Amino acid sequence: MGNSAKYVVFDGMDGSGKSTQMNLLREKLGDSVVFTREPGGSPFAEKIRGLVRDDPLAGESTALNNFLLFWAAREDLQYKLVAPKLKEGKRVFSDRGDSSTFAFQICGEQHGDLADAFDLMRQLVFHRNPWRREPDLYIVFDLPAEAARERVMSAVDRGEMNHFDVRDLAYYERVRAGFDEFAAHTQATVAFVDATRSPEEVHRLVCAALAMKVGISVE
Ligand code: TYD
Repeated sequence: MGNSAKYVVFDGMDGSGKSTQMNLLREKLGDSVVFTREPGGSPFAEKIRGLVRDDPLAGESTALNNFLLFWAAREDLQYKLVAPKLKEGKRVFSDRGDSSTFAFQICGEQHGDLADAFDLMRQLVFHRNPWRREPDLYIVFDLPAEAARERVMSAVDRGEMNHFDVRDLAYYERVRAGFDEFAAHTQATVAFVDATRSPEEVHRLVCAALAMKVGISVE
């Protein structure tokens, strides 16, 4: 695997402006980066996305089952796309990653009992053979819980989400803290970006993190 291979995850709460920022990077970096997303990104993982994110039956199953489905999608994505691209020396930017599983399923949904399983899954999915690796950098768009909840409520008003997507404030607080806990728990390289700033400023912060932590220059 050459030095040019880099794997970067972009994460944060719903409504943190992550998509806007990733679109800006896509415009500027174009084909030099392989863009993907979680859950999904490979044909089989997209099918799992349809189950775990969009099928109401997922909500009726267990927390463990949802946790495993996010990891099942991730395993297919690593096998089919991320590891082969990194092997070719490519850069891979992913919209969400295992940091979401930690923040949402373990912290947001209060299943600390899954932390050991989380470590085991990381080991299996990211370190099973030399072509696999964990992300070199996580960029987390950080937003106060109140602001995150308000952004979700505006999306409901615009008809982009439904009211089942609105959770109580404590949930958003747990998810926000969950990204910090993810960084402490895994010792991964995580750059937190203040998502309350203007899109231009956030973009500058993202570019600075990419340059400093993984040597990727955007301009
Ligand atoms: P999506 O519509 O892609 O949300 P966004 O545009 O905000 O990224 O849906 C992804 C949802 O799945 C999002 O609410 C976060 C959630 N998720 C988890 O709960 N756990 C995970 O491991 C991942 C990858 C996503």
